[in-house]
Amino acid sequence: MNFTVLTLFPEMIEQGIRTSITGRALAQGIITLRTVNIRDFAHDRYGHVDDYPYGGGAGMVMMAPPIYEAWECATAGMEKKPRLVYMTPQGRVFDQETAKAYAKEEDLVILCGHYEGVDERVLEELGAERISIGDYVLTGGELPAMVVIDAVSRMVPGVLSNEESGETESFMNGLLEYPQYTRPDVFMGREVPEILKSGHHANIARWRRDQSLLRTLEVRPDLLETAELDKKDKIFLEKAKNTCFSADEMVN
Ligand code: ADE
Repeated sequence: MNFTVLTLFPEMIEQGIRTSITGRALAQGIITLRTVNIRDFAHDRYGHVDDYPYGGGAGMVMMAPPIYEAWECATAGMEKKPRLVYMTPQGRVFDQETAKAYAKEEDLVILCGHYEGVDERVLEELGAERISIGDYVLTGGELPAMVVIDAVSRMVPGVLSNEESGETESFMNGLLEYPQYTRPDVFMGREVPEILKSGHHANIARWRRDQSLLRTLEVRPDLLETAELDKKDKIFLEKAKNTCFSADEMVN
């Protein structure tokens, strides 16, 4: 899978993505990363890529021509017109399903905005998909682009090792993940739940499922509307809604 990022701050993307698991995937050639500096396509010798908005108002707007030319440079030689994702708080909110869908693409081009936004016409001309990473405003699209690249990369076969596999993690079954514990056995007087040391796989699986349900009920009840729930789950949730006990106490 090949990522190309159109940005004013290529070093930010390069440093972020060439680290940790995505860095390893790049070194292994499972994913590739190319950054194209939009400023290299400025039309004046001062490197201006932004201008005042028509109609007035605060801030500056990124001009269409440098972005269009950066795109042309980035996609020259590609057989198929790739998907273009424009990072903006005005977009559809990014989620795990979108990450999975993008991971099936051969190429993904990501455009990072700055200032007050980007001239609408270049987005229309290129058929850009607007994607937000959440309801807050950042200073630019670089961090959101890194979020997307990270989430998409881990869905590309071979990027995660077996131990790191994403299949059982948060959101994978529509629920939040259960709590995890490792050594030491006691930390600051807090003990690892006894059931996890019992070796009884079925009981452990049920406990984890209940913890997932409880967490989701407490923090993201909206997810319960679409999660796949069986009869045992529903009974547990009904009980949980009617009591203030923890999942631990409810199991016993
Ligand atoms: N650019 C600035 N804020 C953003 C956000 N929340 N999501 C995507 N791109 C952005």
